[in-house]
Amino acid sequence: MVSAPTLAEEILELKTQRRAIILAHHYQEPEIQDLADSIGDSLELARTAQKFQGDVIAFCGVRFMAETAKVLNPERVVVVPDRNAGCSLVDSCPVEAIRAFRRRNPDHVIVSYINTSVEVKAESDILCTSRNAVAVVNSIPSDRPILFLPDINLGNYVKNQTGRKNMEIWQGACIVHATFPARRLTAARAEHPQALVAAHPECPGDVLRMADFIGSTSAIIDWCTKQPASEFIVMTESGVRYSLERLSSGKKFYFVANENCNCSECPYMKLNTLEKLARCLETLEPRIELPADIMQRALVPLQRMLAVK
Ligand code: 13P
Ligand code: SF4
Repeated sequence: MVSAPTLAEEILELKTQRRAIILAHHYQEPEIQDLADSIGDSLELARTAQKFQGDVIAFCGVRFMAETAKVLNPERVVVVPDRNAGCSLVDSCPVEAIRAFRRRNPDHVIVSYINTSVEVKAESDILCTSRNAVAVVNSIPSDRPILFLPDINLGNYVKNQTGRKNMEIWQGACIVHATFPARRLTAARAEHPQALVAAHPECPGDVLRMADFIGSTSAIIDWCTKQPASEFIVMTESGVRYSLERLSSGKKFYFVANENCNCSECPYMKLNTLEKLARCLETLEPRIELPADIMQRALVPLQRMLAVK
């Protein structure tokens, strides 16, 4: 008797039929990562989407990442497992506020973190991710004033790293990283005195000051994998545990709970499931659809970012 295909087999079959690629952020559940053609941080996934040749991109991450893939592939279909997979940083930065800032400050260079809506990207001069934010800010002539948005912690980190004085920073925050309390990191260090600390730059400054390494999602994974140490406290979303353990067998990784959920999970990222991934490949819905003029305007700062080494 032939058994019914599993959900994973169904997804792989649909992927072939649709000439689709599955892109997954490191914060996705392991069963989604296992089916992905590419796993990465937001910069790596944007670069993969830039080179894509097939018909359909199934983006397992949050909506702003899928919108970025769509801007890079306006002729292709981009689907997401769950349309409600948003981001608190996107919500913290409404486009009307950026337009008002622009009217008041026409000389400022607007540097937008990729965690923004496509409308905000369209109003921006250049984008950045946590991986290239320092290089992007350094690429701007030192006499030009900057507005960096929307993440206050990443902005402060970049300001420290670049020594840039003429840089204003928006007041947005990530509900996951900004709510890691320094006192819990202190307690984790007391419990695991041999462990090194790796932190995402969206964490608060008092957490970052205790870190041995600060970097984007993939940079944290690369660093922990290459270090001779065998224990790490990882101050980011706990989905990265899967890649960390796969790439560095035998090492131990400890995660610190944040104040919001007493966990270290992004509730938006975790809306995606295998079942929803199968349905979006089958029905090609929910689909990312964006106005052509907004995509064209958002492409300019996105390409400027992708050109920064
Ligand atoms: P990365 O650029 O490190 O993937 O970060 C994206 C993000 O949403 C972090 O919370
Ligand atoms: Fe947004 Fe934070 Fe979730 Fe990343 S972890 S998608 S920044 S809410």
